[in-house]
Amino acid sequence: MDTENKESIYGKYADILPLVMEDIVEPIRRFNAESERDTGNTVYEHLLYRVKSDSSMREKCRGKGLPESPESALKKIHDAIGIRIVTGYVDDIYVITRFLKSLPSCKVIEEKDYIRNSKPNGYRSYHMILEFSAPYEDISGNNPGRYYAEFQLRTIAMDSWASLEHELQYKQKIGNEKMIVSELKRVADELASCDVSMQTIRDLIRQG
Ligand code: GTP
Ligand code: MG
Repeated sequence: MDTENKESIYGKYADILPLVMEDIVEPIRRFNAESERDTGNTVYEHLLYRVKSDSSMREKCRGKGLPESPESALKKIHDAIGIRIVTGYVDDIYVITRFLKSLPSCKVIEEKDYIRNSKPNGYRSYHMILEFSAPYEDISGNNPGRYYAEFQLRTIAMDSWASLEHELQYKQKIGNEKMIVSELKRVADELASCDVSMQTIRDLIRQG
């Protein structure tokens, strides 16, 4: 058994991060529930969230040449809190991003629309780094504190593609890599085309 009691890379903020994350996620859940109540439709299918594990955060610090410290984990790196929202349709992603930006506790730090501008490998998702005001002290001594969260918003199709492509990234040696990479790109584009069709059909059904 590992009895070593190494301090968390998040230091004394290790216990606060899950509380901040709950505060961030709660209005999103409520927004979904209210949308379902008012329109009969949810705005997302899945809401997933996690605090990056100690070992992954340490690895990320090392990869970026940063000291393994709470400062690095909470100030220099912005995905200690990671939230993924998976929707049925592309439009819902933009409905949710508008909602997030409207929250008074939230400030946009970074935004990358890999849906309108997909990555060369075919990756599509909407990424945002948001800074939230929370009723806890932060690493800079502010109270209310400021905490970062990384958001990834994607459709079910984009999500299943990203999982498969992620498997490839972790493979050390692989035969047929060129073919697999180009097939993944082809499938990403087909899925994007299906997402557009699904959206169009939904619009037609809702108009009718
Ligand atoms: P870091 O914030 O340092 O991780 O890098 P970055 O700012 O370049 O990240 P970016 O916003 O492009 O991506 C953040 C996260 O999105 C990654 O850690 C992955 O989880 C996911 N992601 C980005 N690109 C890809 C991709 O091509 N394939 C898959 N499967 N996931 C991706
Ligand atoms: Mg980033």
